[in-house]
Amino acid sequence: MKHFLSIEACHQKEIIELLSNARAFKADRRYGADLLASQSWVLIFSKPSTRTRISFEVGLRELGGQVLFLAQQDIQLGRGEPIKDTARVLGRMTHGAVIRTFAQQDVEDFAHFSQVPTINALTDEEHPCQIIADLFTISERRELQDIKVCFVGDGDCNVARSWAWAAEHLGFELRIAAPARYALSEEIRSKLKSQKIILTQSPEDAAAGADVLYTDVWVSMGKEAEMQDRLAEFAPYQINERLLQLARPGALVMHCLPAYRGKEITEAVFEAHADTIFDQAENRLHAQKAIVAALLQ
Ligand code: CP
Ligand code: NVA
Repeated sequence: MKHFLSIEACHQKEIIELLSNARAFKADRRYGADLLASQSWVLIFSKPSTRTRISFEVGLRELGGQVLFLAQQDIQLGRGEPIKDTARVLGRMTHGAVIRTFAQQDVEDFAHFSQVPTINALTDEEHPCQIIADLFTISERRELQDIKVCFVGDGDCNVARSWAWAAEHLGFELRIAAPARYALSEEIRSKLKSQKIILTQSPEDAAAGADVLYTDVWVSMGKEAEMQDRLAEFAPYQINERLLQLARPGALVMHCLPAYRGKEITEAVFEAHADTIFDQAENRLHAQKAIVAALLQ
């Protein structure tokens, strides 16, 4: 892999290899400690982040690299310098880039113009790093090929889209429950071939017999102006005790975080499944290291 920009662009084999390498990085935090010796990587973030930023900063350092964190407003990009010029400058000085932004095209352009390994740390289109950590977390507990995953909430958000591509490549069953207005976009649906990706407006139908109940915030970063409409429309799409009762006994409950208790998930269900949810957060670190390592080959 030269870049890691989306789950859509990944091959099944690459995903499976990332999961296996994440396991190795988790087993020994010192594994690969010299991989980035003499390398400097840059993080450019145009949206807030706790998990992604820290896991990349710590992970890159543990691999022996130096890290520069740049919020968009810290650099001329924030004053309108084109992404392709920023990329051509940074590509001459750094060895890799991790970018969190709005438009997918911006990470694609950065990768193209910088020519250094580039990682999508979340765009409006996809959150591929998250899904690698999530799949890894599930693989620690279940056989991935047998699982039925139920995503409840904004069915067209970056996390849901990356889930759809993961299901497409790996062949597991994915049910996405969302209000009609927030269903997975027609553009993506038309590209998916798997018969095991099921879209519904019924959270109950999606949760029935599921092995994993997964949710994300109802209001993604950049969608704050739609807050009131979203809170009203998503109200029936909460992971709560009632929905959990419909899932397979012992089902995993997962959340990419940050969580808004009382909105997409209840306090009680969140806390009862905090072990899984915070393993998921920790696994971001191990997964990021596997992703970076894959780009060095
Ligand atoms: N899940 C996730 O990406 O969290 P952050 O926004 O804190 O990085
Ligand atoms: N869909 C969320 C993910 C946060 C990690 C967002 O884009 O804000």
